[in-house]
Amino acid sequence: MRLNKFLSGAGVASRRKCDEIIKSGSIKVNGKVVCELGTIINEKKDKIVYQGVEVKLPTSFVYIKLNKPKGYACTASDEKGRKTIYELIKTNERLFSVGRLDYDTEGLIILTNDGDFANKVMHPRNEIEKEYQVTIEGEILESELAVMRKGVVVDGEKMPPARIKFLDKKGDSTRLSVVIHEGQNRQVRRMFEAIGKTIKLLKRVRIGGVKLGGLSRGDYKDLTIDELNLLVRAK
Ligand code: URA
Repeated sequence: MRLNKFLSGAGVASRRKCDEIIKSGSIKVNGKVVCELGTIINEKKDKIVYQGVEVKLPTSFVYIKLNKPKGYACTASDEKGRKTIYELIKTNERLFSVGRLDYDTEGLIILTNDGDFANKVMHPRNEIEKEYQVTIEGEILESELAVMRKGVVVDGEKMPPARIKFLDKKGDSTRLSVVIHEGQNRQVRRMFEAIGKTIKLLKRVRIGGVKLGGLSRGDYKDLTIDELNLLVRAK
C-alpha cells in the first residue's frame, strides 16, 4: 500500500496533506525517516511512526455523532489545557473529528477512526451542507440578509454565498438558519462580524443528511446505517 494512502486511511490527514507530512521528514518506517512520496509499505508488517506514535489502520470502524457543548476544544490535546471533546467519549478507539467546531460553538460533530470516510466528508469537492442555528443580538434587516446570501466581504475576501432563513425573534434576540458548504475557519462568525452583528449562540444542527436531532448536550451515539449512507453517497 502507498504510504500516503495508509496515513490518510488511519486518519492522519487528507491524502494531499499526508504527502506534505511525508516530504517534511516526519514519518518513520521501521525506524528510518522516509521522505519519498511514492513509498510503498507493507501495512501488515511495517511499523509506521508519526509524532512519536505508531500509526495503525483501524480493524473495525466506529462512527459517532456528538452534541458538542460550548467550552470544549476539538483537538486531542489542547495547548491551553482546556477541556476537549475526547473527554466526553468513552472508548479505547483512537477517534478524530470530521472537521471542527470552535471552542464556543455547540452542536453536531461526527467522530470516527475511518480516515477515508473523514476525508471524503470534509473534501470541498463533495460540497456537503452544514446547517447552523445562529442566535444574534437584536434584529437583522432583509438588506443585510441579502448581502450574506450573495457573499459578504470579510477582510477584503468575499465569503461564499450562504442560504439564510429567518427562524424567529424572541425578546432582544433573532434566530436564523444558515447553510454553508465550506468549512473555512470561523466562517459563520466572520460573516456576522462583517455586518456588525453579535452572535450569542452558534449551534450546528446538520451535516449533509445527518441531523443533531434530540441528542442532549455532551451526549453521543453511533450513526445509523442510513445516516452513514447519506454521507457516503452525498455527491
Ligand atoms: N463557523 C464558525 O464560525 N464556527 C464554527 O464553529 C463553525 C462554523
